[in-house]
Amino acid sequence: MAGLPSAITVYEVGPRDGLQNEAEPVPTAVKAELVRRLLAAGLPVVEATSFVHPRWVPQLADAGELLDTLAGDLGDAARDLPVLVPNERGLDRALERGCRHVAVFGSATETFAQRNLNRSWDQQFAMFAPVVERALAAGADVRAYVSMCFGDPWEGDVDPDRVVETGQRLLAMGATQLSLGDTIGVGTAGQVGDLVRRFVAAGTPVDRLALHFHDTYGQALANVLAGLLAGVTTYDASAGGLGGCPYAESATGNLATEDLLWFCRGLGIDTGVDLDAVVAASAWLADARGRPSPSAVVRALTG
Ligand code: HMG
Ligand code: MG
Repeated sequence: MAGLPSAITVYEVGPRDGLQNEAEPVPTAVKAELVRRLLAAGLPVVEATSFVHPRWVPQLADAGELLDTLAGDLGDAARDLPVLVPNERGLDRALERGCRHVAVFGSATETFAQRNLNRSWDQQFAMFAPVVERALAAGADVRAYVSMCFGDPWEGDVDPDRVVETGQRLLAMGATQLSLGDTIGVGTAGQVGDLVRRFVAAGTPVDRLALHFHDTYGQALANVLAGLLAGVTTYDASAGGLGGCPYAESATGNLATEDLLWFCRGLGIDTGVDLDAVVAASAWLADARGRPSPSAVVRALTG
């Protein structure tokens, strides 16, 4: 197909976005093994966990222990695994472990800012500003997520101008990359192209953008295609299609990494990732959890 990039970066979020939503606790050793397998499959970025409040997300209460375990195996490379940090307390915990990549996560909508961060839409920026400033001063780089870019379970349609304003404020703080999230998976391809073009028109270089899709309505790959045609070359995905958000009703699994890799292989887009090794990692995790992967590609390749 014309107009597509020759290569993209797959930003793996399964250990964080996937496992934050598990009903059953996943042992730290299983999480560490998942991260190791995903790195071994060639994924260039594997987001490991979140330094959020352990009462808010008990599934990731072992964030420090997980990074210590990974440092034992991977040495200094464990410091390159990105982690989420909502506030200065989270940043302190990440910097204690020497993390070199942190991510803040903002909301385009008022209701989700309140529910996910216990802050108003406006107050979230005051919470993030010192996090970004101190992270950059410590030599870390900062990704910023914007959630609810295409729809919100409480507010319905989301004004794209509000999404652009949210993203621009996070970039103005010094965030290096902006990941635009379809948190509940309601967006469609036309909206994706439109939102990317609005950011570009507002002065955001397209190479600062990443796209983060959830596959609730089966639109995630169509949305990737719209993003590719609009020039975005970083895509978040979750091994096996794990995922959801504990504070967003109706959020289901992320775009599965395997679905994205199959799609890219078909289009001749290089990812540098070994699809079979990711499938094997997801199949291993599905066994460990006693639940099959929701990914169509994992089912097809393991069936
Ligand atoms: P809060 O209750 O307002 O926190 O929560 P606070 O600032 O009032 O502090 C209260 C107490 O919590 C204090 O302790 C703090 O030290 C402690 P005390 O002094 O009372 O003993 N505390 C912490 N402890 C450990 N780690 C911390 C931390 N922060 C405060 N980081 C807060 C505010 C932001 C912390 C809370 O709302 C929270 O943790 N939210 C996280 C929710 C979350 O993780 N959601 C999922 C990730 S977002 C997502 O999945 C979407 C995404 O995938 C993209 C997409 O799909 O759109 C990224
Ligand atoms: Mg997500």
